Amino acid sequence: MLKLLNMTSTKKIRVAVLYGGRSGEHEISLQSAASVIRNLDKSRYEIIPIAIDKGGRWLLNDIKLLQDPGKTLPVFKDAPPVVLSPSSDGHEGSLIPVNGVANFGKAQKFDVVFPVMHGPLCEDGTVQGLLELADVPYVGCAVLASAVGMDKEVSKRLARDAGLPIVPYVAVRPAAWSRDRAAVVARIKKETGFPVFVKPSNMGSSVGVHKVKEEGALDAALKDAFKYDLKVLVEKAVNAREIEVAVLENPDASGAPLVTVAGEVVPTHEFYSYEAKYLDENGAKLMIPANLDEKQMARARELGGAVFTALECEGMARIDMFLDKDTGGFFFNEINTIPGFTSISMYPKLWEATGVPYAELLTRLIDLALDRHGRKHALAREYKP
Ligand SMILES: Nc1ncnc2c1ncn2[C@@H]1O[C@H](COP(=O)(O)OP(=O)(O)OP(=O)(O)O)[C@@H](O)[C@H]1O
Ligand SMILES: [Mg+2]
Repeated sequence: MLKLLNMTSTKKIRVAVLYGGRSGEHEISLQSAASVIRNLDKSRYEIIPIAIDKGGRWLLNDIKLLQDPGKTLPVFKDAPPVVLSPSSDGHEGSLIPVNGVANFGKAQKFDVVFPVMHGPLCEDGTVQGLLELADVPYVGCAVLASAVGMDKEVSKRLARDAGLPIVPYVAVRPAAWSRDRAAVVARIKKETGFPVFVKPSNMGSSVGVHKVKEEGALDAALKDAFKYDLKVLVEKAVNAREIEVAVLENPDASGAPLVTVAGEVVPTHEFYSYEAKYLDENGAKLMIPANLDEKQMARARELGGAVFTALECEGMARIDMFLDKDTGGFFFNEINTIPGFTSISMYPKLWEATGVPYAELLTRLIDLALDRHGRKHALAREYKP
C-alpha cells in the first residue's frame, strides 16, 4: 500500500508557483497566489511555492507551512534562497540552493512554473525570458506578448494595426514636454481635445493616472506621470462603462481563442483610481455578467478575442475595454497578461460564470503550458543544410 501511494504521488505534476515579485503589486500577488494554491487540484499537482521577495531573491517555501493558505501568503524570510538552473532535458527544471546543494540537501525539481505575479519585473517578459533561458514550461504569455502587454502604447499600436478600435491618444516624452510644450499641446488639442486621461505607459493599478479637464492642469499631471515612466499617454477621456473579458488560448491551435461572458467594473469614484481599487472597500462593484444587450455582449467577446490574437498572446489574458455611453462604440483599453487571481478577481470569476470552475481553469492553464513547451521544444534549433 505504501509503495502504491508513493507511486501515485511521484506521478503528480510538480508546479512551482512563483509569487510576490519586485513590483508595486507584490501584496496583490500574495493574495492571488494564496487563492491559486488553494484551488489547484491536489490530486494532480504537487505544489512548490517560491516567494520572490522585494529585493528579488527567490525563496523556496515549505508547502507544509502553507497547507491552508489564508487570504494572503507569507514570505518566509528565512526560507532557503534558490536560483533557477537551466533544464538538462528541456522538461524538468531545477531550483538550486544558493548556498550549494551540499548545505541544503538536493535541488528541488519541478515540471512547470506558474507565475502569479503582477506588474513590471513579473508580468512584463523579464521573468518569462528567464524561464525561456532555463527551457522550462510556464503558464501564460511568452516574452513577446508579456512585454507588449505591459506597454499600453505598444499594445494600442498593435491593436490599431489589426483594425481594432482604440481611444485617440498622444504619447509624450519628458524631453519633448520640456523642449517644445506648445507643439505638444497643439497635438493634444488636435488629436484628443479636453478632458484627457494622463497615464504612464508602463504602469498599473492606476498609479500616476490623472483626469485632466483643462490645459492649465496638464503640466502637473504630466510631471507626476513622468515619475513612473518616460513615456506617458495623453488620451481622450471617454464617457465610459468599463467592460472586461477573460481569454484562454484554444487548445486546438487552429481554433479561435476562448472568451468568457463580459463583466463590468462600476467604480463609485470619478474613475477607477488607485483609491477605488485598493483603499476603498466599496470603491467599485463587479457585475458578472455585465448588463449588455445581446449585440453588445457579442461585440465585447469578439473584440477581446481579436485583441488576444493581435497581441500574439498565449495561455491567458484579461482584456479591458471601454463602452462609450455616448456613441455605443467599444474601445480596447488595456491587457493584463497575468490578471488578478484572488477569489474575488474578475479573471477566475468570469470563467466560473462561463462554466469553467476555478480548479479546472488552473488545470487548463497548466495543460496549455506543457503543451506549448512541447511544441516549442520540438522546433529545430540548428540548421543542417
Ligand atoms: N481614456 C479614458 N477615458 C475614461 N476613463 C479612463 C481613460 N483612461 C483611463 N481611464 C480610467 O482610469 C482607470 C485606469 O486607467 P488604465 O486602466 O488605463 O490603467 P491602469 O488601471 O493603471 O492599468 P492596470 O489595469 O494595468 O493596472 C481606468 O480603469 C478608467 O477608470
Ligand atoms: Mg486598468
